[in-house]
Amino acid sequence: MPKILLINIKKLYQVRDSQIHFVKGIEMKTLPFITNAFLIIKNNLIIDFGEMNTCPSSDENFKIIDCSNRMVLPSWCDSHSHIVFSGNRSTEYMDRIKGLSYEQIAENGGGILNSAKLLQNTSEINLLKQSQNRVEEIIASGTGAIEIKTGYGLNYESERKMLNVIKRLKNKKSISIKSTFLGAHAFPKEYKNNKNGYLDLIINEMIPDFHSLGLIDFIDVFCEKGYFNLKQTKKILSFANKLGIESKIHVNQFNSFGGIKLAVEHKSRTVDHLEVLTENDIKYLKNSSTMAVLLPTCSFFLGINYANSRKLITNNIPIAIASDYNPGSSPSGNMNFVISTACTKMKLTTEEAINAATINGAYSMGLSDKLGSITKNKIANLIITKEIESINEIPYNFGISKIDKVILNGKIIN
Ligand code: NIG
Ligand code: FE
Repeated sequence: MPKILLINIKKLYQVRDSQIHFVKGIEMKTLPFITNAFLIIKNNLIIDFGEMNTCPSSDENFKIIDCSNRMVLPSWCDSHSHIVFSGNRSTEYMDRIKGLSYEQIAENGGGILNSAKLLQNTSEINLLKQSQNRVEEIIASGTGAIEIKTGYGLNYESERKMLNVIKRLKNKKSISIKSTFLGAHAFPKEYKNNKNGYLDLIINEMIPDFHSLGLIDFIDVFCEKGYFNLKQTKKILSFANKLGIESKIHVNQFNSFGGIKLAVEHKSRTVDHLEVLTENDIKYLKNSSTMAVLLPTCSFFLGINYANSRKLITNNIPIAIASDYNPGSSPSGNMNFVISTACTKMKLTTEEAINAATINGAYSMGLSDKLGSITKNKIANLIITKEIESINEIPYNFGISKIDKVILNGKIIN
């Protein structure tokens, strides 16, 4: 494999020391850069970078890319997605436009249960094909790492099918993937009057089996009214702790009732959503090791509150932003739009949004030793922009791609 040399980079962004795994508070305002830079890739790694006047002389072993007037930055790290799903819910979308709420649609048998029915009736190979198409779509929009959740299987066989598909996507090695078991996404219809029965199935069968097969990187629970209550969430988080599996939870999307405290007590890596946030929630997150993962395009699509990102930043709580790509509340995995929405609606600066979508996204997936910044020996997952004047054009020109090329694992993808 030839070495790749990027030259004349207008600005090389997110240059970090290998010791930095995430940023928080006031540090989020800074996106360190080198003006007029070079960068060298060997095999799949970033091996060197610096100012152009220190660029080593190249030979025929180098493939040279001239990045004049272009910026280079690490690929997006999307730490919350549900991209393994079948079909779509565009009919429910129109029902919402006509006035039904997300909760009402779910109560009428739509929502997550609707996607579960579809997925249960989809073959593994068909599900893989649909999911692979989505992976290709997000690669083109600059994503280089993604976390993918189960939770549309809702029975042993179909949750396993989802995990198999995630494993097969991982094996393609195009993009870095982490798999999260979200069997506790909703109670299946058959267990409507036997919720403990479904919890037992999760705890006694699904988690132990899937864990022993090496299919689970994280465990997640949808802790929300009408879904999993505190007691049920606690049972799953404690079990995850017992097995040494890290957790993340969906929490405070519509209601705040103690889920954040519970997650912090169980040392969850992340708490995700947080559209509703109380002073008490802030108190528990402060000084914890838990990162807040905010999902601005979910708020955009459902027309609900945006998480109070400014309050989290002022309180020194690290935040990541992610797409939540799923058929019900965010049917898009375009991280450029996530960044744009985070700036416009959550009032993040470009630098804060890019920190949240790169180094902090990588941390949210436990990948910040390998990804999320321009650091020697990290994986060469990079975005080369079109000719732009300022990095602000990425969120400013919402819906318009400012990406010219992406490099994944040291390979140029067109
Ligand atoms: O993160 N909130 C729960 N889960 C997903 C939505 C799932 C769906 O509607 O299919 C979310 O928004
Ligand atoms: Fe989600």
